[in-house]
Amino acid sequence: MFIAKTKQEIDQFTPRDRKVGFVPTMGALHEGHASLVTASKLDGHFTVASIFVNPTQFNDPKDFEKYPVDTERDLEALEAAGCDLVFLPTRSEIYPSGTDLERYIHDFGALENRLEGAFRPGHFRGVGQVVHILFEAVRPDVAYFGEKDFQQLQVIKQLVKQLNSAIEIKGMPTVREPDGLAMSSRNRRLTPTQRTASTLLYQALSRAAQVLVEQGVDAAREQVKRSFEGNAHLRLEYFDIIDPVTFLPRKEGDSGTHHAVIAAYAGDVRLIDNLRLD
Ligand code: PAJ
Repeated sequence: MFIAKTKQEIDQFTPRDRKVGFVPTMGALHEGHASLVTASKLDGHFTVASIFVNPTQFNDPKDFEKYPVDTERDLEALEAAGCDLVFLPTRSEIYPSGTDLERYIHDFGALENRLEGAFRPGHFRGVGQVVHILFEAVRPDVAYFGEKDFQQLQVIKQLVKQLNSAIEIKGMPTVREPDGLAMSSRNRRLTPTQRTASTLLYQALSRAAQVLVEQGVDAAREQVKRSFEGNAHLRLEYFDIIDPVTFLPRKEGDSGTHHAVIAAYAGDVRLIDNLRLD
């Protein structure tokens, strides 16, 4: 496995007679990340992963400071997953002339104002910015993103459209712990009590699927909100049942796909999850 610290080194190590699959990450890797590397390898691509904790997408500076870093273990995990090249840039490699170069700032319209966008102002601008810069550095044919970050996946698809880019975006299923909790780098920060309580996110999504079929969308929303009331370890930030393309709330009797999205805090750890309901 090659390690590139600069864009020049990426060019040096990447064979341009093969298709390149790319997995951008912020490190503290788990099986969810590894599944993206595996998907790229199974597709037969020269597989590049990046590790960069991008400061511009953290609306909460404390979340940035506390973001887990474990590069040595990450490199082992990437090697084990068959990754061919890891891009490990410094901040100045990504942002050599600061973080406000206009060419990398994109407007994602309504997606920025709804749900994750509304609760994390500026987050998707930061994500779009760094992914655009990483795409230029790696020049992949295909890029792999997790459905775990469902709205981010939609933002990336919009980014590629806006850039008129030929990069294919593949969304991959959420990898979960045996009890259903979606794997996340932030799970490392949960206390044992919070970790146990956090299974409620996936349970609530699963229950919503059932209530939706039996009693409709409003009842499903109510039921989930009630299941968090009085919980000593979790604070629900939002739950909604939405159209997975526009992210607008589904109304009673709407046809088409219903997708449930949830965000909750366990202490100061923010957890998100989502599930297609039908
Ligand atoms: P990060 O949170 O490290 O996630 C990197 C990729 O792994 C994302 O595409 C994310 O959706 C995916 N992922 C995370 N948990 C997953 C799980 N349980 N199952 C499947 N895939 C999972 O997302 C980011 O980093 C950043 O915003 C980034 C795109 C790298 C830009 O900085």
